[in-house]
Amino acid sequence: MDSINPSRNKLLRLFPAPLEQVALEGLYLNQELHRLGTHSQPFVYTNFIASLDGRISLEHPQKRTRIVPDNIANPRDWRLFQELAAQADALLTSGRYIRQLAQNVAQDILPVSEQPEYADLIQWRQSQGLAPQPAIVVISASLNLPIPEILFNSNRSIYVATGSKADPLRVQELKEKGIQVIVAGKGLRVQGQALIAALGQEGFTTLYAIAGPEVLKTLLTDQILNRLYLTHALRILGGESFDTLLEGERLNPAADFNLHSLYYDITNEGEPSQMFTIYEAVARKDSAPNS
Ligand SMILES: NC(=O)c1ccc[n+]([C@@H]2O[C@H](COP(=O)([O-])OP(=O)(O)OC[C@H]3O[C@@H](n4cnc5c(N)ncnc54)[C@H](OP(=O)(O)O)[C@@H]3O)[C@@H](O)[C@H]2O)c1
Repeated sequence: MDSINPSRNKLLRLFPAPLEQVALEGLYLNQELHRLGTHSQPFVYTNFIASLDGRISLEHPQKRTRIVPDNIANPRDWRLFQELAAQADALLTSGRYIRQLAQNVAQDILPVSEQPEYADLIQWRQSQGLAPQPAIVVISASLNLPIPEILFNSNRSIYVATGSKADPLRVQELKEKGIQVIVAGKGLRVQGQALIAALGQEGFTTLYAIAGPEVLKTLLTDQILNRLYLTHALRILGGESFDTLLEGERLNPAADFNLHSLYYDITNEGEPSQMFTIYEAVARKDSAPNS
């Protein structure tokens, strides 16, 4: 193997063996996630980028909202995010993201990006017989969803998932805009199992959650997450107002994972190196409380 040249990006696979230099482009696309699910059991995955001290977002000083810290977000991780989205039938996002998008403070418009550098991913979807863009499923209890025009023009189907006790007037308003409303939960909130079953019935087999801690908790509580893609930016950020992977009360039982693969991305000087980790959820044999 070549010696490591610190002036150039280098991506090393550390697990599984053998240690090997690998290309970034295609790293996640080659996993062919779109072949792993079925309508009765869709394949569900999510991804995050986190600092070494576990921050997935920090308060933006001007925008008065928490966003992914710009000193860990980076184009190499973004490429992999786009590759994950390229394989999805539907993206699961949150009511909060829609409100951020409407206020123009969201990190970006939803993937798959139509920028020239991702044209290969759009073409890849076409070659696989997938829709031009993944559908979007907005998970929301409040249904306070000022869906911006940009989303209606994004060449994708739009769904909103909510609980059966959601405000019927807001449900009606959404339907009048041509949005399909999925009721997946007995109260105000969406339940993971019901959501995934409903989306399977819609004909989806590959579901990518791109939201934050609450949606992750919804998936973990109902044991329906298959895979977690987690980028660890090797930088410690601190900060008082932040989000981390999961918040609120303890998961009971806790969610276990096995390491699927591990890549070390040695970046240019001045930028943090990062680990691309892929974790496979361990199916639980029973739901006995953790100790
Ligand atoms: N670093 C990263 O990779 C990364 C990735 C994703 C997000 N983030 C950060 O994480 C933070 C939170 O993101 P987020 O708000 O998009 O995600 P979230 O915490 O998963 O979602 C929160 C919103 O989604 C709705 N929601 C979630 N679960 C629900 C359920 N079971 N039933 C009904 N509604 C539910 C609610 O919408 P309503 O209020 O409309 O009811 C809630 O306000 C943000 O700061 C974001 O920047 C970071």
